[in-house]
Amino acid sequence: MDQSNQQNKTLEPHVLVFPIPFQGPVNCALKLAELLCLSGICVTFLNTEHIHRPLLRHTQVLSRFSRYPNFKFETVPDGLEHEKPVSGDGFMEVMAAVDAVSKPLFREMMVSGSLSRKSDRPVTVMIPDACFSFAVDIAIEASVPVICFETVSPCCLWTSYLNLPTLIEAGDVPFKGNDLDQFIKSVPGTEHIIRRRDLASFCRTNDLSDPVIKLIVKEAHSVPRTQGLILNTFEELDSLILKHMRKLCPNIYTIGPLHTLHKTQVTANTTKQSEETTFSNSVWKEDRTCLNWLDKHDPKTVIYVSIGSLATMTVEQLLEIWYGVVNSVKPFLWVRRPGSITGGYDESKVPPELLERTKEIGCIVEWAPQEDVLAHPAIGGFLTHSGWNSTIESIAEGVPMVCWPYFVDQQVNSRFVEEVWKMGVDMKDTCDRLRVEKAVRDIMDSKHNVFTQHARTWESLAKESISKTGSSSNHVGRLIDDILAMSS
Ligand code: UDX
Repeated sequence: MDQSNQQNKTLEPHVLVFPIPFQGPVNCALKLAELLCLSGICVTFLNTEHIHRPLLRHTQVLSRFSRYPNFKFETVPDGLEHEKPVSGDGFMEVMAAVDAVSKPLFREMMVSGSLSRKSDRPVTVMIPDACFSFAVDIAIEASVPVICFETVSPCCLWTSYLNLPTLIEAGDVPFKGNDLDQFIKSVPGTEHIIRRRDLASFCRTNDLSDPVIKLIVKEAHSVPRTQGLILNTFEELDSLILKHMRKLCPNIYTIGPLHTLHKTQVTANTTKQSEETTFSNSVWKEDRTCLNWLDKHDPKTVIYVSIGSLATMTVEQLLEIWYGVVNSVKPFLWVRRPGSITGGYDESKVPPELLERTKEIGCIVEWAPQEDVLAHPAIGGFLTHSGWNSTIESIAEGVPMVCWPYFVDQQVNSRFVEEVWKMGVDMKDTCDRLRVEKAVRDIMDSKHNVFTQHARTWESLAKESISKTGSSSNHVGRLIDDILAMSS
């Protein structure tokens, strides 16, 4: 290759997207990657091997991305042999494997290997998950500009990640004593909202040497060292905290709800629109038959129940929630992900009356096309574990929520759903059938209840933000301009 060609090559904008290897973050990162592809930027999407294996069987996702000549999947080993639907308990196992196996290989790829300046196709901007602080270090070592993508909620990022060093310094974490209802005063902006019980779940530790605490403290220090931070939210939704966050990280791109922005932009740029049945990048196979079941129901009558890709529940909790939902007398669509019941699901332990009622008014699937489910007119409520993707997908469709948070950001999200956005009920730290039944009725009975009204307002603000001149569309445009400028 002659000198001028080499120079042209090095000037080609080439983004490396590197998500943490879990279903939710990968799904989101693929959407961001596709938006960048549509703008003509070259994208390499780096997955660790264990999460890439199920994606390889997802022909629809592969065929969608195969139409972008500027898109490429790459993988890096993580040493995880087994392909498993990991549960929350497996989170640190996966992160430790990435740290031990993927990190050194990734460093080599970036510093001297296939993605480095010495390669034919050097990376000009890196977009790792914000949780990968090692990737920020490697980008800085390789002199590559880095913009982090944080897929947990901004309310959690602010209260429990970026402020974790402050919480520790103020003596708010670890908790002393058992008063979980005490308000946290050391985090600017949420002094009258967040109690100890509403901080991210890892704050409930008594041990500051806990690996999760160490991981998050590292993230708190690395995010402000980057050139920018991408968040899946829209300005109005998180105005309470964004103004504080911008003092620490001035360059924030709010590009949410990412799934609806993605759908709008892909649709506008696709000629074969009729072939597109789903815009989801779910790594697991979706059972779309539940959409036909939903078609048979009146508008806003069905409660959708799902705890995402990592949360689990005990058999006792399953029965409490199940009885609560059945006793609310709402038809229900329930996602029972394999592996989501601790100790396994044993039908012989389920009271026959529950199974009978379920046959009459329920539909159970292993994995649903959730974005389409939430957008279906029959859905009137969502009983959720309050994962950030599920929460913003529900906000985008104006579906009120019953929140039963499990871990990480979910404790913060459920508090914001009830106290800030006022579009649902937070059942945090409780699980009994009477409470479930009441919460389901509260969010679904009467079209004009307060939860439905707020949900409609957020839905319309979400739609506005992804319109042509909306804030999220503008932020994506600015992100693309900045990537081009950083690449030159
Ligand atoms: C994890 C964390 O648990 C969550 O708190 C964090 O905010 C992101 O990473 P997860 O537990 O899977 O994610 O929850 P969530 O963020 O809600 O993501 C679940 C995703 O799976 C959503 O995009 C949802 O649409 C999709 N999904 C879920 C399906 O496609 N089908 C289903 O049946 C259930």
